[in-house]
Amino acid sequence: MAKKLFVKTYGCQMNVYDSERMLGVMAAEGYEATDRAEEADLILLNTCHIREKAAEKVYSELGRLKPLKEARPDLKIGVAGCVAQAEGEEILRRQPAVDFAVGPQAYHRLPALVAKGGVDTEFPLEDKFLKMPAAPRRRAPTAFLTVQEGCDKFCAFCVVPYTRGAEVSRPAARLLGEARALAEQGVREITLLGQNVNAYHGEGPEGGDWSLARLLRELAGIEGIERLRYTTSHPNDMSDDLIAAHGELEKLMPYLHLPVQSGSDRVLKAMNRRHRADDYLRLIERIRAARPDIALSGDFIVGFPGETEAEFADTLALAEAVGYGSAFTFKYSSRPGTPAAGAGEQVPEAVKDERLARLNAVIWRDQKAFQQSMVGRRLPVLVEKAGRMEGQMVGKSPWLHAVHFQAAPETAGQVVEVDVVESGPNSLSGRLAA
Ligand code: SAH
Ligand code: SF4
Ligand code: F3S
Repeated sequence: MAKKLFVKTYGCQMNVYDSERMLGVMAAEGYEATDRAEEADLILLNTCHIREKAAEKVYSELGRLKPLKEARPDLKIGVAGCVAQAEGEEILRRQPAVDFAVGPQAYHRLPALVAKGGVDTEFPLEDKFLKMPAAPRRRAPTAFLTVQEGCDKFCAFCVVPYTRGAEVSRPAARLLGEARALAEQGVREITLLGQNVNAYHGEGPEGGDWSLARLLRELAGIEGIERLRYTTSHPNDMSDDLIAAHGELEKLMPYLHLPVQSGSDRVLKAMNRRHRADDYLRLIERIRAARPDIALSGDFIVGFPGETEAEFADTLALAEAVGYGSAFTFKYSSRPGTPAAGAGEQVPEAVKDERLARLNAVIWRDQKAFQQSMVGRRLPVLVEKAGRMEGQMVGKSPWLHAVHFQAAPETAGQVVEVDVVESGPNSLSGRLAA
């Protein structure tokens, strides 16, 4: 009988992709996936270190898993991801139920760790994905594809350059091959992933580097792939040819996640973001000129050390000026080992809470208005799966709104036209166009 592997994934989409690849590695070792931890022979937590709360979740989850290990000492528990990278040794010390910790760049060596235990947080020079068997077959019509990993930007608040290592791009030929295989499995939408995906500069099939725009153009030529997205981008890597691609490639969806973090030039400088608020606004103008129906999404941090009320007001003003289709907002969380952790005056928690609420009010208002503006329109929807109600299917609009409508189950994986009738709290509903 096959052994069973339970994987729980935290953090960003890159972890989601990695978890699938780890399933592929362990499938080659005779493991199959289960969604019940109680019946697993191997439990893997793929973790996130970005904010304190994310990291603490891991220890409480491990506490919950401990009794399983006590009942079945042959159960193996491993911690993967960014917490493993940042504090691998400490995890094994703090929670003896853990057998091994494996950092994001060592997943191809997972079988050895499962067998022997211990900690592997090296940054080997080889491309780990080259040495990993393919992920299990995709059943969903959407898939992630990591094209770039790591970060050399060293924003003052961020752990990613330390947990993921230096920026590395995967060779284009491998990515095209992986994308073709996904298309053959029925995947219709691919989201290219990277901590700085638009800094992609992978080796081209005939030598020379390919940019993200070049890669997108080639991917758009693959039969079966109908939609392309990419995330997460840094404003400074938004090159002219990438902006142009938004105007040229119909398959490239009109939705761009472009984090700005703050609207204050002083704070942006202290964050080491290397651009001013106005540079970001001008950039958005250029992107909108290339693709007028594009919706913007972003990330914000409130309460960065030393942030004053006036500086926060600049962030509110920037959010107002952009008019985001959606955005993620975070309270600054001090991370050990990052430059900002020891710098400036920490903003009191109550002030952060209050600023977060004010920023969210602006973001949510715009998000709701944008979603509401879809009512009465006919939208192309990529059908993903059955909805909760009888005869209902759910899919995504070009702007990632969930759309509910009545349709046959066979529409899954197709792009259909839906007349949007209503905008609910988190989704749209409509009727399949005749
Ligand atoms: N590479 C992406 C973001 C990666 S982390 C970029 O450069 O934009 C995702 C988001 O988490 C960041 O955009 C930031 O808004 C938030 N974040 C990162 N570190 C944080 C910290 N220490 N406290 C609060 N939010 C943080
Ligand atoms: Fe972190 Fe900045 Fe790199 Fe994004 S660009 S991953 S926020 S260091
Ligand atoms: Fe978290 Fe690591 Fe992603 S810290 S956000 S899982 S890169």
